[in-house]
Amino acid sequence: MSRIVYVNGEYLPEEEAKVSVFDRGFLFADGVYEVTTVMGGKLVDFDGHAKRLWRSMGELEMTPPCTEEELLGIHRSLIEKNGFDEGLIYLQVTRGAADRDFAYPAEGTAPTLVLFHQEKQVADSPAAGKGMRIVSIPDERWGRRDIKTVQLLYPSMGKMAAKKAGADDAWMVEEGVVTEGTSNNAYIVKDGVIVTRQLGTEILHGITRAAVLRFAREAQMKVEERPFTIEEAQGADEAFITSASAFVMPVVEIDGAKLGGGTPGPVATRLREIYIDEMRKAAV
Ligand code: PDD
Repeated sequence: MSRIVYVNGEYLPEEEAKVSVFDRGFLFADGVYEVTTVMGGKLVDFDGHAKRLWRSMGELEMTPPCTEEELLGIHRSLIEKNGFDEGLIYLQVTRGAADRDFAYPAEGTAPTLVLFHQEKQVADSPAAGKGMRIVSIPDERWGRRDIKTVQLLYPSMGKMAAKKAGADDAWMVEEGVVTEGTSNNAYIVKDGVIVTRQLGTEILHGITRAAVLRFAREAQMKVEERPFTIEEAQGADEAFITSASAFVMPVVEIDGAKLGGGTPGPVATRLREIYIDEMRKAAV
């Protein structure tokens, strides 16, 4: 059965949804996006995703296509029209269509807004019981990773490099330290201390990261926001990643070195439970 998707004010069967060939998202990757999880037909941390979207648009001097409240309404209509219960909603805003020119159009353009959903088992994920295997690759992305743009070719290449190496994902390394995963934030745990890279322009400010660190601190777990190396990670007791689509996902192997006997660790497992419980309660 075909999905109902949203394009610039209309809800349409996916086959009928169209965007211009002159759209700057298509020509220049001049667009930003968000991925929000849906559990039990409700949105997880919508407010966090909306705030980050507005910040991304602001950094790129992009005109917002609607208000935050209207955006929530669109998400809810999409859920309702599709009878959608669990998975992800992808949202993309681009600067819109204009003749090809590197400079932003002087007269401005109407932004393009697209949303669609993908069903996915997020809460009872089989991968969570198994844990992920990670390989490291150099971080060769642009310098403004705090803006959630649709330029995702390097992360795609990284994911393919991981697959070819028989792993599940790649952690990117810059100046000797880990930045983040191809589409997630990276953490290690040593002697009960959770370590994750501090915020800056080098990584995306994960919405799941913010919530998980808050829950960890509330549970009296110790958190250090600082860089770490692959060697330090290989010597850690456990590791994990976070993202809207994976929640908290244990990591059991890094560049061939097994962590904690190769099974998901207690901190990652506990944080995953807390995150899912709390987010189910707070979903809107
Ligand atoms: N990716 N870092 C990068 C590079 C990401 O692409 C993502 C999210 C994250 C985690 O952010 P959050 O917790 O807000 O999802 C960190 C999304 C899920 C994606 O591209 O599909």
